[in-house]
Amino acid sequence: MDNKRSQWGSRVGFILAAAGSAVGLGNIWKFPGRAYEGGGGSFLLIYLLIVIFLGAPLMITELSVGRASQSNIVSTFQRLGHKGYSWVGWIGVCGAFVITCYYCHVGGWVLRYVFGYALEAPAIYEDSLGYFYEMLGAHADGTTSVPWTAIGFAAAFTALNAVIILKGVVGGIERFNKIGMPALFILLLILLARTVTLPGSMQGLKYMLSFDWSKVSFSTILAALGQAFYSLSIGMAIMITYGSYLPKNENIAKNTTLICIMDTLVAVLAGFIIVPGVFATLGEEEIGKGGGFAFVSLAKMFESMPGGRFFGVLFYLLLLFAALTSCISLIESIVAFLTEKFSLQRKTATVWLCLILFAIGCLYTCSQAAVPLHGIWLDGTNGVTYPAFCDFMEYLTDRIMIPVCALGCCIFVGWVWKPEKAIEEVKSCGAAFKLAGIYKILIKYVAPVAILTILIMSFTSGMTLS
Ligand code: PFF
Repeated sequence: MDNKRSQWGSRVGFILAAAGSAVGLGNIWKFPGRAYEGGGGSFLLIYLLIVIFLGAPLMITELSVGRASQSNIVSTFQRLGHKGYSWVGWIGVCGAFVITCYYCHVGGWVLRYVFGYALEAPAIYEDSLGYFYEMLGAHADGTTSVPWTAIGFAAAFTALNAVIILKGVVGGIERFNKIGMPALFILLLILLARTVTLPGSMQGLKYMLSFDWSKVSFSTILAALGQAFYSLSIGMAIMITYGSYLPKNENIAKNTTLICIMDTLVAVLAGFIIVPGVFATLGEEEIGKGGGFAFVSLAKMFESMPGGRFFGVLFYLLLLFAALTSCISLIESIVAFLTEKFSLQRKTATVWLCLILFAIGCLYTCSQAAVPLHGIWLDGTNGVTYPAFCDFMEYLTDRIMIPVCALGCCIFVGWVWKPEKAIEEVKSCGAAFKLAGIYKILIKYVAPVAILTILIMSFTSGMTLS
């Protein structure tokens, strides 16, 4: 894929790229932690409802807007004759930018764990939490230092992305996902089997299946909304870019269904492995230190599995590929925007973008444990707080930029461009769009009202739903 309006070579090409973008760190590193914070089963239920009623229609919307306009995120609105809505695209690009800043770094942590399991698995088994924090510059003796290990690996991961994009081998990586994604899925199933037989994990399984509504407030619902959109790669208008590369004969509705199912399955599976894994590995008293759920909690499983070290390397390697395809999709769509909008050369745009992303991401990594950097936040549940800068970056994208961009897309398609045009675009492949009536109601009324209400209530109401 390059910034000329090329097209996906085949259906598989598109599905792989879009699913590759969706399935990533969000499913395995973010989702389980969010599910834990949101009360397990209650979060899961809210999440599923959001994917079905808001996520899927929005993906259809973004893809059809992209295919109709054949343009990048910001120019899309102008192309369709509504320049006044370009702000939606701008928020999307800014959101994608902030996400990529930290995505490059967490990708680096994954790379570190590939080497960690290959070279020093016993050290991880011995003190999985200590190993994780050591990487982030917080040492066992209570002192802290600049987290050079994490930063070094993040630099390598970012460079890897840049090289893949510049060498134009994105397609190769996507094709790898054809094997990598099912392999990751099978490995997750194996890990699930291991989890349920791990001493202490039952409590975690119960937690994931029970509804603790006392932990659910509007702020939780907003977190679930941001997480679902993040995981599906929507609300950053990235699917607009992807849609613009999609041939007319592709069935947008069918593809959307497939991507949503795949992405959600991986996330839910990861939740059922990692949350019980955390209960078994850390015990309840340590559970609050959940920043590294996907890194810390799996150690015990690998340790107690035959060939655990091999599976450890394999797991983080597959996660690395999943992270790469997502990260590439983010960088690619920002580069497409920069080259088209500012007539920058592709190489210049990619190199500078990666350097800046990496530099800002260092603040993310440093504020994990080593340096007390804070942001400021306000919500109806907790009032004014000063979250660690790393959390602040995630709040900014998941709780403001993504929902606002998604809201903008709904309003644009529901009321300005009109859902009929999106439906026409879906039908242009020649197949029927059986749920067109429902889609219209969802995109016009349900989605905008729901997103707006959740946003407002999250910042104004301190209500929990119990
Ligand atoms: N969906 C990816 C994940 O779950 O890791 C992350 C992501 C990729 C978010 C692309 C947004 C995006 F546009």
